[in-house]
Amino acid sequence: MCGIVGYIGFREAYPILIKGLHRLEYRGYDSAGVALINPQNRLSVYKAKGRVDELEKSVKELDLSGTIGIAHTRWATHGEPSNINAHPHCSQTGSLALIHNGIIENYAVIKANLIQKGYTFQSNTDTEVLIQYIEYIKATHTCDLFKAVQIALNHVVGAYAIAVMEKGNPDQLIVARKSSPLVVGIGDNEFFIASDASPIVEYTHKVIYLEDEEIAVLHRDQEPKIVTISNIEKTPEIKELEMDLSQLEKGGYPHFMLKEIFEQPETLKNCMSGRINVEGTHVTLSGIIDHKDKFIYADRILIIACGTSWHAGLIGEYLFEEFCRIPVEVEYASEFRYRKPVIHANDIVIAISQSGETADSLAAIELARASGAFVYGICNVVGSSIPRNTDSGSYTHCGHEIGVASTKAFTAQVTVLTMMALAIAEEKGTITKEHYLETIKELQHIPSKIKKILAIDGKIKELSAIFTYAQNFIYLGRGYDYPIALEGALKLKEISYIHAEGYPAAEMKHGPIALIDNEMPVVIIATNSTVYEKVLSNIQEIKARKGRVIAIVNEGDEVIKALADYCIEIPSTIECLDPLLSVIPLQLLAYHIAVNKRRDVDMPRNLAKSVTVE
Ligand code: F6R
Repeated sequence: MCGIVGYIGFREAYPILIKGLHRLEYRGYDSAGVALINPQNRLSVYKAKGRVDELEKSVKELDLSGTIGIAHTRWATHGEPSNINAHPHCSQTGSLALIHNGIIENYAVIKANLIQKGYTFQSNTDTEVLIQYIEYIKATHTCDLFKAVQIALNHVVGAYAIAVMEKGNPDQLIVARKSSPLVVGIGDNEFFIASDASPIVEYTHKVIYLEDEEIAVLHRDQEPKIVTISNIEKTPEIKELEMDLSQLEKGGYPHFMLKEIFEQPETLKNCMSGRINVEGTHVTLSGIIDHKDKFIYADRILIIACGTSWHAGLIGEYLFEEFCRIPVEVEYASEFRYRKPVIHANDIVIAISQSGETADSLAAIELARASGAFVYGICNVVGSSIPRNTDSGSYTHCGHEIGVASTKAFTAQVTVLTMMALAIAEEKGTITKEHYLETIKELQHIPSKIKKILAIDGKIKELSAIFTYAQNFIYLGRGYDYPIALEGALKLKEISYIHAEGYPAAEMKHGPIALIDNEMPVVIIATNSTVYEKVLSNIQEIKARKGRVIAIVNEGDEVIKALADYCIEIPSTIECLDPLLSVIPLQLLAYHIAVNKRRDVDMPRNLAKSVTVE
């Protein structure tokens, strides 16, 4: 949560910073701020509550000159969204400015000490404590800014990605990270820093991903210097950025979410590319090949994730159990990390995360690794923390996902899980050749089938108008489509703020059926499967209680058409791949309902794309 961006070089910093903030706004959007050192060596800090647009409006007439600056877009943790709590924060003398993403857990102790020494605080934030502390160390140790940052970071407990600059030293920007992402872009005589590469990509493709507890000193005319908080000097490892600017634009769509829904035929092709051979007869995942035996002899697979990624994990459970005959447990990372889970060295832990930065998932990985388990990551953001903290893994290759509600990352995660299950099952000999080949063939047809669903978007939009003002929704599914019921409900609640619950269809009788009356819309996935007849009975039970049924059915299903109030027809596929199709109309339905309600689809209230706090 929170986005940070910084620049030092020969260009005017403000336009770069403000553009960067817009790109990072998906990470947090309750307040924003910028600090600049102008050519006369004056440090100016401007802040505004609300979106980055508000900040832009409020600074129009002000001095925005300077070739060094830092900026921040906030998702509040300590202290309500307000101008005062917005970053950058300044030190007592006003000579240091800092932006921060993360949480300083022991801020209260440090603050109490500083108050005793006469320090006063403007805000309620942990970040202000950190910058005051850095200044205090600088004064008491009579050291330079780098040393003061290094000493301070040895004393703080928590997570941070920070950038600090100093009024008397406009040629230097100091950045550091621990458990919060930070990318340094390397240009010719200029540096860019940001929470992810999106603000950097249009200026340079050369980047350094800072590791935990590393501090980078970025000096205008010098090579970047990286030193750990324990004072070990590191050789900077410069990587080539795999990102394309067009991924960061809406490309004619009104929202990133809609663009990302429509990208899915392409993103799934990218996800399979190079992994399924041209003949369509073989699946290879390099992350598995190198550790084949681990998977063949695994006693158990534990899948850990949060939110939408957790829903993908549930589908993974069905796939690994059906194809590989390995017992699977799917865990919320946030619960797993605070239980005393039994993890064996022969377990495989699969961590699924779009951002690769989710704090709870990272902590769960640490726990799993400490128990000796082999940890495999399924992530989208290249170079993020999860891929760097796992033994092996697969990227989902679906491109930058900007809409806060995850769509294309979800289908890519399910595709990777399907390919993993196929590859492991083939190695283990737990799948017949026919089943293996049929599944690969069908998987390759999924992109074109998704295209067919996207072509009926207009119909889904019409349907959305009927239900825009519903107060509640129930989503039902069985088997492979049960996680899709959960995902459909989550999509609706997060962007439209309508209360929605997902259930396994058969569980309805054990409680939720009491909610059904003629006001209650029930979205039910009723595609062809081994439990089709059972789902049919569930629809009858809902209709008997006058519920309004919106059924997702296969093309040509006249039986359910005669029963349900509304049907959305999707192409048929094999049962294990159905989630990849049935989720698409639910993404579109949620999207259109939210647009009808005039919600801010790409930046729903209270949410942020990357949850880097517990
Ligand atoms: C829902 C959504 C969240 C994320 C969750 C995990 O649309 O986006 O529920 O799925 O915060 O995030 P990652 O996958 O980045 O670990």
